[in-house]
Amino acid sequence: PALQDVLGAQGFEHVGVAIDSRETVGRAAQLVTKHYGAITPENDGKPEVVQPTEGTFDFTNLDRLLDFADATGTDVYGHVLAWHSQTPAWFFRDGDRNLTSSPADQAILRARLEAHIKGIADHIDARYPDGDSPIWAWDVVNEVIADGDNANPHDMRDSRWFQVLGEQFVDEAFRLADRYFPEAELFINDYNTEMPEKRADYLDLVRSLIQRDVPIDGVGHQVHVDFARPVEWVGDSLAGVERLSAETGRPLLQAITELDVSDSKENNGADVSNGTVPQHSPAYADDADAAAELGYYWRDLFEVFRDHSDSLESVTVWGISNARSWLRTWPAARPWEQPTPFDDDLQVTPAYWGIVD
Ligand code: XIL
Repeated sequence: PALQDVLGAQGFEHVGVAIDSRETVGRAAQLVTKHYGAITPENDGKPEVVQPTEGTFDFTNLDRLLDFADATGTDVYGHVLAWHSQTPAWFFRDGDRNLTSSPADQAILRARLEAHIKGIADHIDARYPDGDSPIWAWDVVNEVIADGDNANPHDMRDSRWFQVLGEQFVDEAFRLADRYFPEAELFINDYNTEMPEKRADYLDLVRSLIQRDVPIDGVGHQVHVDFARPVEWVGDSLAGVERLSAETGRPLLQAITELDVSDSKENNGADVSNGTVPQHSPAYADDADAAAELGYYWRDLFEVFRDHSDSLESVTVWGISNARSWLRTWPAARPWEQPTPFDDDLQVTPAYWGIVD
C-alpha cells in the first residue's frame, strides 16, 4: 500500500518526502506521487539557492518543485527561511568587513532578513494571486540550538545570525514570516531534539518565544536518528512539546521534518572526518537479523508517532531512496547506509514494512 494511505488513515495530515527538482520526473516522480502527499525542497529553497548574490533571486529550481506540486496536488513544507548553513557569506558581510553587533550592522542584517523573506513571499504571491499556494508551512529558523553547553541563553548556537543580532533574530524571523506568509504555519526546526539536554534547551527557547508573543505555530523535529537512539526519547520530545503547549495555553503543532535512520550502531561517534569508512552492520539484503532490526526500529518509531498524532501534523522522510540519501555522502562516504523506506532501485525495504505493518 501507499504510505500516504496507511499513515493518512492513522491521523497524519501530511505524509511527505524531501526532494529536489530532479525528482519531479520519471520513476522518482511516480514514487513520490504514489507514496507521499507532500514534499519538502531538500535544497531548492535554501538561501544559497534562492538568493546567491544580494538582490538577485533565482527561483528556477523551486518553481520546478512548485510546478510539480501544482500538477499533482502535492502539499509543500517550505525549507528554510533563516539558517546558518547553506547561506551565502554576503549575508554577514559589508564589503570586505564582517558585520558586528553594532546597531548599524544589526540594521543591515535585519534589512537583509526582511528582503530575503519578502523576496520569496513576493514570488509566491505572484505565482498564486488567488492565494492557493501549496506551501502550507515554513521552517522559519533551523538549527538555532547548539549540541553542547555554551555561554548563550538556551545554549543558542553561536551562528553568525546570533553573533550579530542575538536571540532576537529568531523573534524577528517569525514576525517577518508572519507578516509576509500570513496563511502559513510557522515552524522552528532542529535535529537531536530527542537528546535530553538539547530537548530542554529547545523547549526553553520555545517557551521564551511564546512569552514574548512571537507568532510561532509549530515545533519541528528533524529525527535524523540511528538504531542506538531509543525511540522512547523521540516520544519524550513529542510529549515535552505537548506539555509546553498545555502549560502556556498556546496551541503548538508538531512535525517530523527530516526522518532517516542511520546504520551507525557500531560506529556512533566514530571520527569520519578523514573520510575513513568505519565498520557497519550487515546489509539487510544479506542478513535476516539486520533486516529484522531495521524493520522493527521503523515500526517502533511509527508507534511512537501514532501515540502523538493529535499534535503531530506531518511526517517527512529525508530522501526518496537510499541511493539519494544525504547520509551516503555525509560527512564522509558511507555507501552502506540504508536510511529510507526505499532501496537504491526504488523498491520497498524492511523499513517500509515496519511502517506499514
Ligand atoms: C542536507 C541535504 O540533504 C544535502 O543534499 C545537502 O548537501 C546538505 O543539506 N538538516 C537540514 C537539511 O535541515 O537541510 C539538511 O539537508 C540535512 C540536515
